[in-house]
Amino acid sequence: MSRQLVMGNWKLNGSVALLQTMSQALSGAEYAAEVTVLPPCTLLLEASRQAQGFFVGAQDVSSHASGAYTGEVSAVQLAEVGCKYVLVGHSERRQYHGEAGNMLLEKMRRASEAGLVPVLCVGENLAQREAGEAEKVVTQQLSGLDSFLSSGLVVAYEPVWAIGTGKVASIGQIAEMHDMMRAKLGSTVPLLYGGSVKAANAAEILSLGNVDGVLVGGASLVFEEFDQICRAAVRV
Ligand code: PGA
Repeated sequence: MSRQLVMGNWKLNGSVALLQTMSQALSGAEYAAEVTVLPPCTLLLEASRQAQGFFVGAQDVSSHASGAYTGEVSAVQLAEVGCKYVLVGHSERRQYHGEAGNMLLEKMRRASEAGLVPVLCVGENLAQREAGEAEKVVTQQLSGLDSFLSSGLVVAYEPVWAIGTGKVASIGQIAEMHDMMRAKLGSTVPLLYGGSVKAANAAEILSLGNVDGVLVGGASLVFEEFDQICRAAVRV
């Protein structure tokens, strides 16, 4: 049996106070899901100290090991403060920081070497979806992963047009992409869906055969919503 994964990506939100509220509430809950909270970097150490019944992850990692790279945080440093997971290539990093290709593979390599599990985010934008290129784009974003298949890797399909927009991909669109990713990556890589996941749609998404969990943005900041999403997940 494996547990479905529910990950809460706080993005550039949250505070010490929210962390306290959230970790207290999560510590008392018992979920079939494996729950991970991904707060901003400044809260990671405190999150790890408070984490009972949930794991802690980071939203990004440097492609460098150490040195003169102002503002960066390394994989070893993330591991040192208790992170289990780290997002790599979230669409907001791709969009606002120009991240792509080999640099993302380098981030994943650093993460793996430090004992973290990289969560590679992939997904097409609206123009690509409308041009019928969604599968081609995602396939391309999944290239070069062979060496990570045995070392621990999670992939999150997050169509850019569904992130923070309230527009969730249809069940058919999610199923189609996840089936394609499963065929490509095999059965050992957990596949998450992300993009406007909320309490009202989580159960249906999580019931799909090739969906092993969800990556939640906005709805992870409100305990009542996040709690219901965690409850929608099952052991499979
Ligand atoms: P959203 O974000 O749930 O607010 O759409 C998801 C994500 O970006 O991981």
